[in-house]
Amino acid sequence: MKLALVLPLVAAATLSSAPVLAYDADWKRGRIYYRAICSSCHTTTPNGVIQPNGRTKGEWMAYLKADKHDKGKEPVAKYFSKEYLSSIKATNKAADRFFSVPTDQLLQDVQLFLQRSAKDGEAPASCN
Ligand code: HEC
Repeated sequence: MKLALVLPLVAAATLSSAPVLAYDADWKRGRIYYRAICSSCHTTTPNGVIQPNGRTKGEWMAYLKADKHDKGKEPVAKYFSKEYLSSIKATNKAADRFFSVPTDQLLQDVQLFLQRSAKDGEAPASCN
């Protein structure tokens, strides 16, 4: 009897202390971010546009995880930061719009877009 009384309490305590649900990434927003923020720069870089389908899902995951951009000169995370967005928002409308979105959400959105659009993704995309 005693145990029967305690168990529901334990279950309730476990539920209430469960971590906040994981963020449900939005690949469409990631696509806008990739096109408006990442690709806007890559058009003028030496190697030009970086196609999502130029890499596999695994290669993209490894790339983002390694966090080494431009041959390791700086972290990729730099281009998701508030500092970067605020430095370009006067001339980049998307940056102005994305400024209020939490950085980790933007990162997850782009990550999901790249997974989807990778060489072996469900919708490989060559369009930057
Ligand atoms: C300020 C300009 C700029 C922005 C913004 C930018 N990149 Fe780059 N990116 C570069 C340059 C410069 C290179 C290296 C030269 C090249 O490959 O043409 C590069 C290269 C890359 C490469 C090729 C591998 C490497 O690191 O050398 C990937 C992948 C890449 N960027 C992903 C991204 C992603 C994802 C974003 C957005 C979150 C982003 N970049 C934003 C300038 C930029």
